[in-house]
Amino acid sequence: MSNHIMNTYARLPVTFEKGDGATLQDSEGKMYLDAISGIAVTSLGHAHPFISEAICKQSQQLIHTSNLYHIKKQQMLADQLIELSGMEQVFFCNSGAEANEAAIKIAKKFGHQQGITNPTIVVMENSFHGRTMATLSATGNPKVHEGFQPLVGGFTRVPFDNVAAVEALSDNRDIVAILVEPIQGEGGVYVPQKGYLKALRKICDANNWLLMIDEIQTGMGRTGQWFAFQHENITPDVLTLAKALGNGVPIGACIANNKATDVLAPGNHGTTFGGNPLACAVGLAVIEVLKTHNYIPAIAKKGALLLNQFKSALTQQPGISSIRGQGYMIGIQLDRPCAELVKMALERGLLINVTRGDTVRLLPSFVMSQQQTDELVTKLSQLIIDFLSITD
Ligand SMILES: Cc1ncc(COP(=O)(O)O)c(C=O)c1O
Repeated sequence: MSNHIMNTYARLPVTFEKGDGATLQDSEGKMYLDAISGIAVTSLGHAHPFISEAICKQSQQLIHTSNLYHIKKQQMLADQLIELSGMEQVFFCNSGAEANEAAIKIAKKFGHQQGITNPTIVVMENSFHGRTMATLSATGNPKVHEGFQPLVGGFTRVPFDNVAAVEALSDNRDIVAILVEPIQGEGGVYVPQKGYLKALRKICDANNWLLMIDEIQTGMGRTGQWFAFQHENITPDVLTLAKALGNGVPIGACIANNKATDVLAPGNHGTTFGGNPLACAVGLAVIEVLKTHNYIPAIAKKGALLLNQFKSALTQQPGISSIRGQGYMIGIQLDRPCAELVKMALERGLLINVTRGDTVRLLPSFVMSQQQTDELVTKLSQLIIDFLSITD
């Protein structure tokens, strides 16, 4: 293995050569069932023919021109996202962290426009928003902060899924926005109580704060709606997307509505690559596939079914603390550290993730067949049972 890669990841001892739908093949020819989808990215599976064709066609026509010029595919993708989200304006970038950076800048400038000199954003404990300096500062995980102090200021933290803690900040005149994940992904697949986002929407309206929802992991159908906020019939002021929007081709989006629109003006923000014709052509292709195959309502149903299958297979097992999730975003929490499961699964031809040390996280692709989801339940349940017995 080359030692010329910066040591930012503790990588698993495997290299994949090719993929097909929900499966991957390694350099030795061994096949794996992929239940993590490149961390919620390849929702349409690997080597999707329509996506590959869109990449091929667009690359032969035009890849990049920069944002010095109008970009037709960018406008077309913005139109689609606006129609799907019911919001107003899109800024395209290349990753989730960049989408959140744009959101944070909108909130800060929104505050300054009202004469607030120390604009402050309410963020949650146990959250994850990215690895850039501002987004890691917004992130509610001390491990992510370690070694990078001083952090970017202008954030105040409250417990997740706790409306009263946010309400208690209503008198703070510095607050301009709330930044929240609808389901905490990296934090362990925590689904808040029903009505949480609606309650935050109300607080934001009452205090002239922006409700900024980070749907980088939950967006583009993952929870059984295009965007998780649609489960609660609200609309945020700012929405951030990335991951599955390009099915693996890097693209992010920060979408604004109402009072968050027109906050950023020429000269305030920018990107060289963001929203280039290639990335946007792929975004359009992803949306087309999701629409024509009606994947999203199916994921709502299939996700509930998958969750129940895991509950039937595992709930009775001592050592299982909780099985939770929505759509194709599932967390199985154990009563002990279980990072070792990832390697054990790999040996058995299964790709999973463990987050927060004790929670198996599953983010299967929408193209996984019934036979493959059954295989996932059988293999993973057995693996967890074996792991619990050897670690008891
Ligand atoms: C909710 C959320 N926000 C932001 C990010 C950061 O996205 P990226 O890694 O593309 O910068 C992630 C990545 O896991 C995420 O899950």
